Amino acid sequence: MSESGTVSEMTGRRTRPAVRPAGGGERSGGPILDVKDLSVSFGAVQVVDGVTFNVDRGRTLGIVGESGSGKSVSSLAVLGLHRNATVTGSIVFDGQELVGAPSERLRKLRGSRMAMIFQDPLSSLHPFYTVGDQIAEAYRLHRRTSRRAARERAVEMLAEVGIPEPRRRAREHPHQFSGGMRQRVMIAMALACEPDLLIADEPTTALDVTVQAQILELIARIQAERGLAVIMITHDLGVVARIADDVLVMYGGRTAEHTAARTIFKAPRHPYTQGLLASVPGLATGEEDDGRLKAIPGSPPSPLTPPPGCRFHPRCARFAAAQNPAICTEEHPLLTGTVHKVACHLPGGTQ
Ligand SMILES: Nc1ncnc2c1ncn2[C@@H]1O[C@H](COP(=O)(O)OP(=O)(O)O)[C@@H](O)[C@H]1O
Ligand code: SF4
Ligand SMILES: [Mg+2]
Repeated sequence: MSESGTVSEMTGRRTRPAVRPAGGGERSGGPILDVKDLSVSFGAVQVVDGVTFNVDRGRTLGIVGESGSGKSVSSLAVLGLHRNATVTGSIVFDGQELVGAPSERLRKLRGSRMAMIFQDPLSSLHPFYTVGDQIAEAYRLHRRTSRRAARERAVEMLAEVGIPEPRRRAREHPHQFSGGMRQRVMIAMALACEPDLLIADEPTTALDVTVQAQILELIARIQAERGLAVIMITHDLGVVARIADDVLVMYGGRTAEHTAARTIFKAPRHPYTQGLLASVPGLATGEEDDGRLKAIPGSPPSPLTPPPGCRFHPRCARFAAAQNPAICTEEHPLLTGTVHKVACHLPGGTQ
């Protein structure tokens, strides 16, 4: 068991649901997904640098960070979806190494054992086909079954994700669904083959707050019922607070902090995590006197011209308060710690 597996073991935040019966042969005993030292470059530009995490069945890892921090690139690497990138490190899914695996093996795993949902369901749904046919076809790509049985499966899945009148709605087209209902359709499609891992990339970003809460509840319910491992990618710590067991905070393609969700919210150690928390309504630990939320000043680094040393230093309040120590501008802070990992030269600094 790797270090971050231990993190999950020790949180005990949620009772682990029973693992559903095996659909894909023998199961390994370790985490369903074990990523070590993952780096991704496009040409000479490195956008993900040495990221390590794992996810157990029935658990949810939240990957958080501002736009451009490398969240999507990391998850697309897990699914083997990069064409022109150099991917190094190790991605072990249920005992199988995926880095360097033949594309046919990855194609078979995608959709059957690993599934992904995106922010914008319209870009993944075909406008001309009914949603029932699209779910049925996705199912038939991986399961040998008749058209009729696949269509029944589609109706069943629409019911499972809470779409009223599923038989009638299966005959409708994507544009006839609201944003929230379309996201439910995507979840139905992703889950039709009963995957072991679901990667959700900002699935609620485009939705209003009430619908967002409903979709997160739905994912959490299905996850608990099926013993599914979930990676929830978001720029919003509020989303992570609702759903994650463990949290990985990314900044500029690197890990800033990685630990149990409750620790992230109660005792964050990285100034970037603290800054993110201070900007979330309801979670804010650092509201201004007048009750306004503090945004982190400045903007995230470009991977073309990352700042030297700690990539966060140009925006870091702790660095400024410590009168700009040279170590922060000269040396890249390594990730240290076992259960609570943090990459900061002054991790015990002001909270
Ligand atoms: N196909 C690509 N080619 C070159 N650069 C890319 C590509 N995809 C993403 N990037 C860059 O990688 C960085 C991380 O992107 P991404 O993982 O999408 O961020 P986010 O955390 O918002 O999901 C960004 O700077 C982005 O511009
Ligand atoms: S290493 Fe220095 S600049 Fe980076 S987060 Fe820590 S205190 Fe801030
Ligand atoms: Mg993204």
